[in-house]
Amino acid sequence: MIQLEVPLADRSYPVLVGAGVRHQLSRVLPAGAARVAVVTQASIPVPVDPGVEHRVFVMGEGEEAKDLSTVEDLCRQWARWGLTRADVVVAVGGGVVTDTAGFAAAVYHRGVAVVHVATTLLGQIDAAIGGKTGVNLTEGKNLVGSFWQPAAVLCDTEVLGSLPPREYRNGLGEMAKYAFLGVDGLTDLPLDEAVAACVRCKADVVGSDEREAGRRAILNYGHTLGHALETAGSYDLRHGEAVAIGLIYAAELALRLGRIDEDRVAEHRRVVAGYDLPMRVPDGLDSDEVISLFSRDKKAVSGVTFVLDGPQGVEPVRVEDPAILRAAFDAVR
Ligand SMILES: NC(=O)c1ccc[n+]([C@@H]2O[C@H](COP(=O)([O-])OP(=O)(O)OC[C@H]3O[C@@H](n4cnc5c(N)ncnc54)[C@H](O)[C@@H]3O)[C@@H](O)[C@H]2O)c1
Ligand SMILES: [Zn+2]
Repeated sequence: MIQLEVPLADRSYPVLVGAGVRHQLSRVLPAGAARVAVVTQASIPVPVDPGVEHRVFVMGEGEEAKDLSTVEDLCRQWARWGLTRADVVVAVGGGVVTDTAGFAAAVYHRGVAVVHVATTLLGQIDAAIGGKTGVNLTEGKNLVGSFWQPAAVLCDTEVLGSLPPREYRNGLGEMAKYAFLGVDGLTDLPLDEAVAACVRCKADVVGSDEREAGRRAILNYGHTLGHALETAGSYDLRHGEAVAIGLIYAAELALRLGRIDEDRVAEHRRVVAGYDLPMRVPDGLDSDEVISLFSRDKKAVSGVTFVLDGPQGVEPVRVEDPAILRAAFDAVR
């Protein structure tokens, strides 16, 4: 078992990584918790034992279930059961469960402690770490939420064995990102050490910029093209797959801006290929349409802030020239 910490002064918390760490749940529960509300989904084969009185609350699947009506449902069921401010919520699942249950915990009784038992690769290296919680509105993803740091996070690598292969690949896309955020040798590590290395990276970034005033933005490396591809839609790409293509696009962009050399671009391609992730945008995509999605205001095509690699590592960079955006796009076709 590997134990790490998200360093946030008096709100610092442990992250345990390794096979079987779900059995450490009772050890990491905040002292004095009399009851535990376990939130999970029907398809998640991960029973947990908090060691105190507990009840399981099952929420729905997918992005549609990550909404305010689920938050209301959970809070009302907790209230009927008599969950108090001194009790604890334990979210057992991927990002959909930890985002939704985390947000419900943040607002129930103006805040009750939450522990995340992350059961997807993406959840373990990303969603469960860092305290961003929230739900979707019809008008957009993650539009309602709050920062609510968990009391502890358990990343049990054993439970990843039951993940559908596509969900596993989804997490690998996010893992590939960390290879360019200063995690050296990531692709050669055994799974639990690789997960721990990613957690350590995210924990450091979150510790230095909890509320995304600056540095935390580097966690969006590869995400600008990634989000545009997801928005352009109808191409059956999971988030991590879109991010993987986005990483290569970001490298091609950085190359054209003179920030990195050909070797570093090849390194991006090597890492993404090594995880067996897609390296090219789907056929039939119009570059101008995708580029217009880079900026929220679709008319302002010039001037997009990207997170790009460079001599000082990955950092936000403003790119003004649409010709460079197009040339880099041609390189990922
Ligand atoms: N808060 C953050 O910082 C943050 C960061 C990244 C992503 N997110 C959010 O995370 C969500 C995506 O999370 P995800 O990729 O984990 O998807 P998910 O939570 O939808 O899980 C994917 C599927 O796998 C199933 N599953 C989970 N664990 C399993 C297991 N061990 N065995 C078998 N099946 C299992 C789930 O029931 C689900 O059907 C998005 O809503 C995204 O916005 C949040
Ligand atoms: Zn992501």
